[in-house]
Amino acid sequence: MTANLQWTAFLQWALPQLRMRWPGFRKVRTQVQKRIHKRLQVLQLADLAAYRHYLVVHPEEWRVLDTLCRITISRFYRDRRIYELLAEQVIPRLVEQMPRVGGRKLRIWCAGCSSGEEPYSLAIQWAMQLQQQYPDITPQILATDTDPQLLQRARVACYPYSSLKDLPVAWRESAFAAQAGRYCLKAEYKCPVVFVEHDVRGPVPATALSLILCRNLVYTYFETDLQYEITQRLGDALQPGGWLVLGSHEALPGDVRGFTPLSGNRAIYQKT
Ligand SMILES: C[S@@+](CC[C@H](N)C(=O)[O-])C[C@H]1O[C@@H](n2cnc3c(N)ncnc32)[C@H](O)[C@@H]1O
Repeated sequence: MTANLQWTAFLQWALPQLRMRWPGFRKVRTQVQKRIHKRLQVLQLADLAAYRHYLVVHPEEWRVLDTLCRITISRFYRDRRIYELLAEQVIPRLVEQMPRVGGRKLRIWCAGCSSGEEPYSLAIQWAMQLQQQYPDITPQILATDTDPQLLQRARVACYPYSSLKDLPVAWRESAFAAQAGRYCLKAEYKCPVVFVEHDVRGPVPATALSLILCRNLVYTYFETDLQYEITQRLGDALQPGGWLVLGSHEALPGDVRGFTPLSGNRAIYQKT
């Protein structure tokens, strides 16, 4: 068997046991392969067949393999159209639903937030584009990830240029300060975001949410039954009429009930 086929066979055997789906990993497999390769060196195992045997004999190793299978790619303002639709259609409808007086808070959860690119994009978008229109509304953004190292990077909030290239130039120039070749987010844009370690496969970390972003994680990498279970919990965490946003190439599994897609877009759903 060629090396490529050996990797495919190994991942096709291992991923379902982690409740993950192989097709999601096809394009990004090299990231996972490199990590597993390093793990084989640490364990002084000769090849994937030996690792497979090791997993059978040491079931606790599955937890390690689970961490090696996390895809961490992200960037600011990823899939610009989604952010545009949030500003044009979703936020106005959420605001309409709010009581006219009292603490007007928009409660947002980013599940699988990587190093903060997504929640900070929302914070920047709010400050640059929406705050003037909705001066009495405060966004509160809970950002969670299962990887503590990514969360630590998120709190520091300094990025290479490549992470910022999709942001409108004026926003990038206002929100970041250059520091030793990196771009560091200014403190005022960090304020609305709180980072918490959390596994999206567990109970939800908050309820009565206005908006959940769960992009490029559950609906790409997890098996369909797990997608159903998580979708049910995300629905329960949303307020009536709240919104769920997926990655632009993702969709909810076929016959999920309780959500209606935004007209003309399969990545954005309203809880019904
Ligand atoms: C591909 S990134 C997507 C980041 C961002 N949502 C985006 O669309 O740009 C997936 C993120 O999910 C995180 N992740 C993986 N498994 C997770 C889990 N079980 N619970 C929470 N986060 C997880 C990874 O650490 C990674 O940061």
